Amino acid sequence: MGTTVFRLPLDVFVGTKLFVIGDAKLTRAILTDKGTTKPMNMYENFNNMANGAISLFASNGSYWHARRKAIAPAFSSQHVQRMNAIAIANCDEWLETKLKPLAKEGKSFDAEREMIDLMLSTISESAFQYKMSPTEMDAFKEDLATVANYNLLKTSLGRWRMAISWLLTDRQAYGKAATRIQALCYKLIAIYKQLENPTKEPLSNSLCATRHTTMMQNELLTQMDSHGHTACCCDHIGMGTDGPCSTPTASGRLRRSIQQDDLQPPPPHQLESVHQTIRESMRLHPVVAVSARSTGKDFITKQGKLIPAGSLAVMSYFVVMRDQSIFAEEADEFKPARWENPTKDMTCAFMPFGAGQQNCVGQKLASVELHCILPRIISQFELIVDDPGRPKYVLVVSPANCLLKAKLVAHP
Ligand code: HEM
Repeated sequence: MGTTVFRLPLDVFVGTKLFVIGDAKLTRAILTDKGTTKPMNMYENFNNMANGAISLFASNGSYWHARRKAIAPAFSSQHVQRMNAIAIANCDEWLETKLKPLAKEGKSFDAEREMIDLMLSTISESAFQYKMSPTEMDAFKEDLATVANYNLLKTSLGRWRMAISWLLTDRQAYGKAATRIQALCYKLIAIYKQLENPTKEPLSNSLCATRHTTMMQNELLTQMDSHGHTACCCDHIGMGTDGPCSTPTASGRLRRSIQQDDLQPPPPHQLESVHQTIRESMRLHPVVAVSARSTGKDFITKQGKLIPAGSLAVMSYFVVMRDQSIFAEEADEFKPARWENPTKDMTCAFMPFGAGQQNCVGQKLASVELHCILPRIISQFELIVDDPGRPKYVLVVSPANCLLKAKLVAHP
């Protein structure tokens, strides 16, 4: 059907025609079509992450609409600013108490682990006024990995597993991990409800107003897990093997462009070099690798081939955002300057937060946090890749076991 759109002959297993799509315009057209929905047979696995009920992320129609409307105020400018201030304070504490001592001792650190801890503490503090302990965070991450692996990789391998699941040790481990996650979510919600002066924060308010407790904790889990996306994004940006920190020249250039004495949150888009760096890193390393949709109408490919209504469309952001016909031959190279004057096609193809009505509800928060945290780290430290680790894909793409060394840089 053309190199970036093809059909996989798996109708028997999928129950409908399956198309894999790497074409930017077609991807955007499908995602923004009002009648197109999330294929529940693929997304429903997300709902088992904490033995839970349906979440915003894995629903459609009026249920989805009501949840989205309830959660949207949490990402208004006022609340994004408030949550971001907490992210900045946590980042500064991390730089002072962890990164500086590590830099002095010449020791390396696990980039993924540190960034996820930073984001987890930020979401629990900003939404629930609760500071998670390092032990709680470690247990949560381990449990989340267990339930994600089980639900997203194993259950989809075959329904027969469900029938004999009580015999399987990984099913038992999943059950225990899911129960612990559930308990943590209930605990955060209960603590918030007992606060004498809660911030009337819309995220926690909308969660606590939900009648159904399993639904409430599943939504909370979605928010906490989604914050991990920002963390992975930080990893890719500041720490990837081909990111700005991969060479002293690239990170030095970026550092020089950041005003050293003004580490207050710059209005997003003010620091062009930071903005371009973030865009380029998100283009090369989209943490959410694919979106899937059940098409609501017929679509026609560039080559004139039909994708009929009711098909399963799996769209790869990796392919779309590295398309050589849009990003030229050096599409795989890290070149932030390409965003100085982006073409219309580049802007259309750039969709790390998805597109359409079911795009990322937290993108404003994620973007503001990235624009604030990256300059804080880069302006004070040079990061050297000790071990690039390897890309890992469970829910999101992250650089697993990537070890970095930080070197304090002198202020001019
Ligand atoms: C750099 C960080 C992030 C990236 C790259 C990202 C990316 C995405 C993408 C691509 C989607 C669409 C998925 C699909 O079409 O299947 C999505 C959906 C979503 N994201 Fe994010 N996300 C990030 C951060 C966040 C944050 C911080 C939150 C909330 C605290 C969040 C909450 C959500 C939710 C709830 C949805 C489902 C929205 C709906 O279906 O209406 N995300 N995200």
